[in-house]
Amino acid sequence: MTDFVQTVAFLESKLPRRASVAVVLGSGLGAFASSLSGRTEIPYAEIPHWPQSTAVGHAGKLVFGSLSGLDVVVLSGRAHLYEGYTAAQVAYPVRVLGRLGVCSVVFTNAAGGINPKYRPGMLVAISDHINLQGANPLVGPNDESLGPRFPDMSEAYYSRYRELARAVAAEQQIPLEEGVYAGLLGPSYETPAEIRFLRTIGADLVGMSTVAEVIAANHMGLKVLGISCVTNLAAGISLHKIHHEEVLQMGARVQEMLVRLLQALLPRLEP
Ligand code: HPA
Repeated sequence: MTDFVQTVAFLESKLPRRASVAVVLGSGLGAFASSLSGRTEIPYAEIPHWPQSTAVGHAGKLVFGSLSGLDVVVLSGRAHLYEGYTAAQVAYPVRVLGRLGVCSVVFTNAAGGINPKYRPGMLVAISDHINLQGANPLVGPNDESLGPRFPDMSEAYYSRYRELARAVAAEQQIPLEEGVYAGLLGPSYETPAEIRFLRTIGADLVGMSTVAEVIAANHMGLKVLGISCVTNLAAGISLHKIHHEEVLQMGARVQEMLVRLLQALLPRLEP
């Protein structure tokens, strides 16, 4: 509790204004942060109680800046369960964003494509998720000031934001698919048998992040949009082995499209 108070007070003392929109950038997807103007950048290492991101491809800083007049907070890099953090630690930054007055959060991530329609380099709006991480950030005593003990998750990804994302993508001529994201613990990639299982249970995408953060965001009543970048075909669908470098390289190639989509979309996300 006091942790939150300290983190929020620290950030309020450093940030020029409040922002209502936040973006969380996944592996190799940091470029959007540098497209903002009038930036204030705060390395995670300086923020009290903030989980540090140790994953390669993650910058590890909070960036406040503006996008044609709209103030935005960007988390460039995130903590993952596979780094050894608890789900509550992974979700901590999102809870801080909520306490700072953010109403809408766009989560981006790199994901493996399970749906046979998907190709590396595609963007996919997440319609729902399957939590296979074996963890939930809400485990433990419930903080009623954040949200209810048993939050509804039937529209974890706000459908209105997805509609807007689809409309903006069409205007920008950016192909945007829609699909279900399965969140796994990692850090090993999946086996082909696991991918067949995930396909059977209705997953289109697989990754190692996002789920805990989205649960915490829903708990607080924040509106969520999730965008996955398909960086590779999932194990067994791809004919070759999966390498993290490949994931980062494809992330880098998709970034330009993702930045364009976010730039056009964020000003249209009504709170
Ligand atoms: N599996 C899990 N996480 C991922 C993948 C994958 O294939 N690609 C990018 N993140």
